[in-house]
Amino acid sequence: MGVRIEPWGEGDLPLLEKLLGDPAMTEHLGGSETHEQLVERQKRYERLSESGTGRCFKIVDDATGDAVGSVIYWDRPWRGDDVYEIGWSVLPPFQGRGLAGKGTALAIEMARSEKKHRFLHAFPSVDNQPSNAICRKLGFTLIEETEFEYPKGSFMRCNDWRLDLFGSN
Ligand SMILES: CC(C)(COP(=O)(O)OP(=O)(O)OC[C@H]1O[C@@H](n2cnc3c(N)ncnc32)[C@H](O)[C@@H]1OP(=O)(O)O)[C@@H](O)C(=O)NCCC(=O)NCCS
Repeated sequence: MGVRIEPWGEGDLPLLEKLLGDPAMTEHLGGSETHEQLVERQKRYERLSESGTGRCFKIVDDATGDAVGSVIYWDRPWRGDDVYEIGWSVLPPFQGRGLAGKGTALAIEMARSEKKHRFLHAFPSVDNQPSNAICRKLGFTLIEETEFEYPKGSFMRCNDWRLDLFGSN
């Protein structure tokens, strides 16, 4: 089954509520956000592309047109370097069908085409088996296990996965 990615839009707050306002969906992401936090996040997502500091997409099922999830990458400093960080989510009814992997692969191609940063990192919790599997299948290299601050003020054990956007993988 195919997916496409579309720029995050003004009408996508309900999707964001389902993705990040839900305790089960955010088990590995420090817990769900409040409605007010999500309204603010929605504004950041709408402005991200024009700010030139990243891109935010919804993952859309080609066959049905359903918006099934999100994939986002953004600038961050990491270990003295400027890199991209990427994150992804897919709603429970659509999980286990390869959609997060396919949507993320499309976003990676976009980031690669920008030729802006050499390295793209993902920091899934060490316990997040599907996300670690996605990093592995998309050709990321596992650098190390590390303590990572997310959300601000709370720390979790994460894997630092890195993809070389200038390399051949
Ligand atoms: C993580 C998430 C996006 C995965 O979505 P998905 O569409 O089901 O992912 P995919 O089907 O593309 O890939 C999942 C992979 O994990 C594998 N997997 C799933 N459960 C697993 C487990 N318990 N142990 C090992 N591998 C597992 C699947 O086999 C699949 O790999 P494959 O394609 O090689 O078979 C989804 O579960 C989610 O949104 N979770 C909540 C938000 C979140 O944690 N986001 C990640 C932040 S880094």
